[in-house]
Amino acid sequence: MSIITGRALRSAAFGALLAGLGLPALAADITYVSGAVGNAVENFKSLVKPWEEATGNTVTLVPMPASTTDQFGQYRLWLAAGNADVDLYQTDVIWAPQLADQFVDLTEAAKDLAPQHFPSIIESQTVDGKLVALPIFTDAPALYYRKDLLDKYGKQPPKTWEELGVIAKEIQDAERAAGNPDLWGFVWQGNAYEGLTCNALEWVKSFGGGQIVEPDGSISINNPQAVAALELAKSWVGTVSPGGVLAYQEEEARGVWQTGNAVFMRNWPYAYTLGNGDDSAVKGKFDVVPLPTGGGNDTSAATLGGWNVAVSKYSKNQEAAISLALYLAGPEAQKQRALNESNLPTIVALYDDPDIAAQQPIIPRWKDVFLQAVPRPSAPTKGKYNEVSSKFWSAVHSTLSGEGTAAENLEVLEADLTDLKGSGW
Ligand code: GLC
Repeated sequence: MSIITGRALRSAAFGALLAGLGLPALAADITYVSGAVGNAVENFKSLVKPWEEATGNTVTLVPMPASTTDQFGQYRLWLAAGNADVDLYQTDVIWAPQLADQFVDLTEAAKDLAPQHFPSIIESQTVDGKLVALPIFTDAPALYYRKDLLDKYGKQPPKTWEELGVIAKEIQDAERAAGNPDLWGFVWQGNAYEGLTCNALEWVKSFGGGQIVEPDGSISINNPQAVAALELAKSWVGTVSPGGVLAYQEEEARGVWQTGNAVFMRNWPYAYTLGNGDDSAVKGKFDVVPLPTGGGNDTSAATLGGWNVAVSKYSKNQEAAISLALYLAGPEAQKQRALNESNLPTIVALYDDPDIAAQQPIIPRWKDVFLQAVPRPSAPTKGKYNEVSSKFWSAVHSTLSGEGTAAENLEVLEADLTDLKGSGW
């Protein structure tokens, strides 16, 4: 035994050999990499405990940067190098077409579980008939608002972005004059990364300006409604939103909000349970509504987000990794995550779960919001989505920073996307 290395001991082949000799299979230590946002890392230990106990395997979580853009860059390098140290990746909803070749097909393993999920979400993770990843939660943002402050000033939550700006300014000015100098009107995600693509798609789509690249692959972003939407967003920077918003991701926005320093926040449902935590200055003082609309258009738009779990094809522990993926995407883990992290389940039945409805009322309320959410153009642009998105968020970030007008930047963007598309996506 002493000459057998740790890696060989862990290998599935060796386990099978022992099983063939009538000896018990050896436990595997599974490595799971995931972005660290909110309380996800803290919750992970108790989340996986039932699986560890049932299988005798252990899981090591390797926390990654919060930014999905940074995670994508790192994972793409690891996968290209055939990294065998990572067994499972937590993957963003937009990545499936770009990373499909590097992951194990889960169709067969998930044949009983997949039908419990919303079909559209399973479809988003299916590339050329291959089930690339299993959904663990879905995401659709909310407009968080301070009930206490809106009541104090006799306001209703805004239905339009224009109205949001006006209310935010009025309350911000009045509260600052009354001795609350740190209060801002509206915080959101303005950093140059995927999160800005999500925010800006919401402004543009709700203004009736399309979704950057349409489902048929045509490039639609250079239009007057999109220009108007971006110009309105620019007007918030430095007035109702701090100049620093251009560097904010989700957690920076939540930091300002949760210390009581914002009237409105655009964020995902994970911020709901944290905002109601004992250490939160806004506990019990806020509620959520769907995002506003604008530009005279009457439908609001929420960008569809969400996270999945994928098994690396370079994993040496594939059997155990697949078992963990099934557990993480299954009803027990999804309910735990809904209760503790206010993540939206992807399993249909959990929207009727009484414990979830009682402890996290945002979840049943958000079912329709996510079902109508707008996908980013990751399906039509296939392997080029990351470049499309980075060109979009750059054009938006320049506009918000005052480097060129929205009209100028969207014209250049249209030309760049046309080049990138070439004869087809
Ligand atoms: C959330 C969404 C994800 C999105 C990211 C952007 O995590 O679930 O889909 O890409 O935010 O920051």
